[in-house]
Amino acid sequence: MELRQKIALITGANRGLGFEIARQLGRKQIKVLIGARNAAAGQAAAERLIAEGIDAIFLLLNISDPNSIENAVQVVKREFGYLDILVNNAAILPKATDEDSPGIVTQQQLQAFLETNFLAQVSVTQSFLLLIRQSKAGRIVNMSSSIGSVTISSEHLHQNGPKPARIPYAASKAALNMFTVLLARELRPEGIKVNSADPGLTQTDAGGPNAPYTVEQGARPAVWLACLEDDGPTGCFFTHVDEHIVNNPW
Ligand SMILES: NC(=O)c1ccc[n+]([C@@H]2O[C@H](COP(=O)([O-])OP(=O)(O)OC[C@H]3O[C@@H](n4cnc5c(N)ncnc54)[C@H](OP(=O)(O)O)[C@@H]3O)[C@@H](O)[C@H]2O)c1
Repeated sequence: MELRQKIALITGANRGLGFEIARQLGRKQIKVLIGARNAAAGQAAAERLIAEGIDAIFLLLNISDPNSIENAVQVVKREFGYLDILVNNAAILPKATDEDSPGIVTQQQLQAFLETNFLAQVSVTQSFLLLIRQSKAGRIVNMSSSIGSVTISSEHLHQNGPKPARIPYAASKAALNMFTVLLARELRPEGIKVNSADPGLTQTDAGGPNAPYTVEQGARPAVWLACLEDDGPTGCFFTHVDEHIVNNPW
């Protein structure tokens, strides 16, 4: 029987989906580490959750800064010595005004998205792996998107659906999906599960107020994956439809 309190780190948890994922995990009696690059915003988010009765602690973490990642690892190592759940949520999202279709995108645009949404995710995950290996049931959740699904993008192409124009964001999430699959394969012998979550278009600062899903709905696949039992899936991609968690195509 597990007696030790579970600990989850959610990156970019000061607002949006990251904050809601932390809230839903906190309601399951999991200690939540509120990763944020802005100390004031991160502290304020942690205090909001504490006021709701959640065991929340702010953790300074800029996922694009190797020193910040290393400092965060040292804090978690010193204070707790293990990490059960890592939710790689922090990311940059495209603005409506971005001109970033494949035929005109600049190298700088591609670089910015790949650095934050792929390279930084790999770096954070690798850095926390020694602490996840100290967990009895390590779970890694990568926040992806249907926009990163090659299958869904190609269906849009052949069915004349929404134009698959957002190559920097799409490529960064597709690369993250590949990281999910290959890391899952590598860590399967150790019992650590790695999956991708697609929240659907969600009402956050990035998704906008008219998005079809609330943050409560959008957070659910990630929360479900963070709490998988030992016989749960690994190396998979999940979203939600009509309140059910379902597989997403790669
Ligand atoms: N909303 C949607 O419709 C939707 C759909 C599909 C997938 N997703 C995915 O879901 C995740 C959350 O999306 P969201 O809508 O909640 O985004 P959001 O409202 O734009 O929030 C992004 C979060 O990431 C943080 N962040 C960005 N760069 C960071 C860095 N270098 N270091 C630390 N934190 C950083 C931001 O911190 P600051 O406050 O400091 O900027 C903020 O907390 C993302 O991975 C996104 O790709 C969202």
